[in-house]
Amino acid sequence: GLGVINIPVVVHVIYSNSQENISDAQIASQIAVLNDDFNATNSDVSQVPSEFAGVVADSDINFTLAQTIRVSSTRTSWGTRDEMKFSSNGGSDVVSPSTHLNIWVCNIGGGILGYAQFPGGPASTDGVVVGPQYFGSTGFVAAPFDEGRTTTHEVGHYLNLRHIWGDGRCRQDDFVADTPSSDGPNYGCPSYPTVNCRSNDMTMNYMDYVNDACMYMFSEGQKVRMRALFASGGPRAAFLN
Ligand code: ARG
Ligand code: ZN
Ligand code: CA
Repeated sequence: GLGVINIPVVVHVIYSNSQENISDAQIASQIAVLNDDFNATNSDVSQVPSEFAGVVADSDINFTLAQTIRVSSTRTSWGTRDEMKFSSNGGSDVVSPSTHLNIWVCNIGGGILGYAQFPGGPASTDGVVVGPQYFGSTGFVAAPFDEGRTTTHEVGHYLNLRHIWGDGRCRQDDFVADTPSSDGPNYGCPSYPTVNCRSNDMTMNYMDYVNDACMYMFSEGQKVRMRALFASGGPRAAFLN
């Protein structure tokens, strides 16, 4: 196996006011959440129902903060077209994307919490974007998205995970065998069991759309899909050099 995979993180904070210029403590809280969630050391993993307890994954992926870059801007919302990823737009250029996860923390607008680029895309925009109110678990955060799980979800996409409903109806796959089929996102805090497509949804998976407090696992199948990226010849193999 590949052993523990270490992912150095570059955080770009692009702010138009002092609240958006989040503290180092808030950034540290997000790194801690990522380490818990990708190693199944999150305290709420104990809430996984017995049906799914056997497929809870310790993905053995660790995150360390490598660099924080702070950029002041008069722009108050950035949208989803990657403009924050270029200093020529008043944003901040990507840093070493083949060996570093880049996270841009800025107000996206439109009620969007975060978005990600899947592996295999352009290097200049590789990484994830998260709004400052949804980043970390302390400081300028807003319930019910105040436990850092937006970044966990977006890093899941960055590591090739799809939404558990496959973004389609029952037969649309997420390419992961142990996440039961569903026909759309769940929201809020669903009770167990929530039945769709004749099976119980894994609503507590980070790749659903539930509240931060109601998502607390990746599956073994998702772990295999994420870690495959780092194998020799894979799109994120350079992280292991
Ligand atoms: N891309 C999704 C959005 O912006 C993120 C969902 C994150 N969900 C969460 N509970 N934090 O809507
Ligand atoms: Zn998503
Ligand atoms: Ca599945």
